[in-house]
Order: sequence, then C-alpha cells, then structure tokens
Amino acid sequence: MNLKTNISKIILNPPIMNAAGPLVRDYQSAYNISQTKAGALVTKTISLKEPKIPKPCMAQIKGGFLNCETWSEMPLSMWLKMLPRIKKLNLPLIISLGYTANDIAELIPQIAPYADAIELSTHYLGNEINAFKETVFEAKSKTNLPIWVKLSPNLSNLAEFALAAENSGADAIVAVNSFGPAMIIDLESGFPIMGASSGYGWLSGPAIFPIALRIVFELSQGLKIPIIGVGGISSAHEVIQMIMAGAKAVQICTSAILQGPKIFDKIAQGLKDFLHRHNLSGYEEIQGLTYKKLKNKKINYAEISIKINSNLCNACELCKVSCPYYAIEIKNTAKINKELCFSCGLCITRCPRGAIKIINNNK
Ligand SMILES: Cc1cc2nc3c(=O)[nH]c(=O)nc-3n(C[C@H](O)[C@H](O)[C@H](O)COP(=O)(O)O)c2cc1C
Repeated sequence: MNLKTNISKIILNPPIMNAAGPLVRDYQSAYNISQTKAGALVTKTISLKEPKIPKPCMAQIKGGFLNCETWSEMPLSMWLKMLPRIKKLNLPLIISLGYTANDIAELIPQIAPYADAIELSTHYLGNEINAFKETVFEAKSKTNLPIWVKLSPNLSNLAEFALAAENSGADAIVAVNSFGPAMIIDLESGFPIMGASSGYGWLSGPAIFPIALRIVFELSQGLKIPIIGVGGISSAHEVIQMIMAGAKAVQICTSAILQGPKIFDKIAQGLKDFLHRHNLSGYEEIQGLTYKKLKNKKINYAEISIKINSNLCNACELCKVSCPYYAIEIKNTAKINKELCFSCGLCITRCPRGAIKIINNNK
C-alpha cells in the first residue's frame, strides 16, 4: 500500500507533516517530530526581525484553540546555526519564511542551502494583492527551490489570491492559516486570556476544519498546482476528507500540539487502515473524489428515512435528547416515530455507535 506522493519533486511518505508553528521551533523540537511517521518538517515562520511574543500565547477552547504567537521568536542567526543539524534529520525540510518581498529577498540566500522547499507565510501581508504577488515573484527570482504559498483564510478573495500565486510561479498552495482575530475572556478577571494588547488571538483546531475543507475543495477546482490542506485535522478521518476534497498532502499544527507528536504515527496508520478496508492501493485514488461525486448529485428533498439498528443501540438517549422534532422514544432501544420524524439526519451524527442510518427510499 502506497502512502507516497511528491509535491514539487519532494517525496512525502506519508503525505502528512506538521504545519508551521511551535512543533518545529528549534533543533530539539524538529528532532522530536523526526522520530515519528511525519513525512516532512515545516519550520515555524522565520523572519528578519524576531517578535516579542505576548504571554499567555496559547489556549485550548471549546472545539478549538487560540494563539497569538505571531512568528519565530528565535533570531535568524540562531536558525542559521541550527538548520544544518535539522537538515541532517533526513526528512524533507520546508522552511517557512515571512513576510514582505524585501524580507524574503534577504532571507532566501541565507536559508536556501538547508531547504527542500520554501513556504511563504502571507498571514501578516494584508489584503493587497500586488504586495502578495511581488513576494511570490521575489521568492521565485531568488531561488530554484520550490515555493509553497500559504494562504490566510482572512483574505478578501482566496481564489483570486491562490490563482495570483499560481500565475506568479508558486509550486504549491498551503491552505489555510488560522482564522480571526478571535478572543476569549477569563471569567474571574474579565481580561482576555490571550496576552496581546488587543486581547486577540487566532483560531485553529477542530472548529475550523469544515471551513478549511471547503476552501481546499473550492481552490482545487481552479488550480493546476497541488494543494496542501491544513486546518483542524485531528485524525485520519479529516486527512481522508482533505484528500477527497482535492488536497495532495496535509499539515497539522493544533492537534499535534494537543495530542503530542505521536499523532503522526496514529494518522499514518489510520490512513493505511482506511485504504486497506476500501481495497485501495494508494490514497491518490480518492484524491478529488468529492467533486466527481457532487457533479452528478441530484438534490435530495424528501426521499430519505431514518432507521435504527436495535442490535447496536444501547439506549444512551443522545439521539432523543437532541431531536428537535421529538420523534425519538426509548423503549429498551431508540425508536423513531415516523409521523414526527423530519429526516433531518442529526441523530445519525449524534449516535456514538453507528446504530442510526439513512435509508434512501428511491433506491
Ligand atoms: C501556536 C501556533 C503557532 C503558529 N505559528 C505559525 C507560524 O509561525 N507560521 C504560520 O504560517 N502559521 C502558524 N500557525 C498556523 C498553523 O500553521 C496552521 O495553519 C493553523 O493553526 C491551522 O491548522 P491547525 O488547525 O492544524 O492548527 C500557528 C498556529 C498555532 C496554533
């Protein structure tokens, strides 16, 4: 079974890597990721001037995560000492750089000897498409290394920026960065939890997955260059969805922070298990599958009904509690009242045992 792919001639095996952030912020953290099944290493974004990072700068929140880490706090001079050792870890090394065309022009000649590809973080570039294009052009003119362009979801028109990156010579698109700005407040003090003077941070983790997925799906229909999907991936399930949406590889940040680096082993195994269960020889067989499916789909108005497998149901009542149509009763197991059921499908996604299924009455 083949989990190998290549993006701009870089072999990724498996097609899963960390996303730019604290997971590869220095040699030791890079080493820790290299001891897992991750297929490449992506550094935290390096820029000419290191930021002062306000504290606290990370918080787990319901369904997601906030951070105000900006970019690498380690000066370029320190990176230049560490990169030769990180390079020897024997994984493709993607060096994330920010931000302006001038910064990039100065940074590339210094880091290029250690990089297999450069990822341009455009998060703090703003919404000005000419500055964006200029940065990609500048990067392309300074090196023959592949240039991956990472998009911020906060851009006014993502498809336009992605196409501009492709037309300016980008070799891949990384979609997407964290969302926001966003905030949460400490109940006792009334202060925002993020230490930034604005109190704001950036939202990542499972909460953003469905939007990141939709972005990858949409971009993949208009681009020729490969897309690396990132945003909210926490298990092999989301990786498979990203691939079905059109991504060729994926990156993970938040869930690899929360679950630890072993997540890369778990996800690689989960991907293999899925391919095995579905008799697929490689994951590229399902790449872009959803678009092909959706092209032929007819809108489904009323022809489905819901059925409960009483052998699997353990009467936990989760489906009953949340049924807004009051169509579920528990009589030893859950039972659907067909008169009241709206076939909304919510109970299917609530059931932890897979006991509730859709029956398509047209089939
Ligand atoms: C603590 C933290 C630090 C991050 N630092 C960077 C960074 O230096 N450069 C960058 O391009 N993205 C950075 N990101 C964004 C992630 O790379 C990623 O795009 C985003 O968090 C969505 O993916 P996730 O939900 O898997 O975390 C950071 C994210 C987090 C949570």
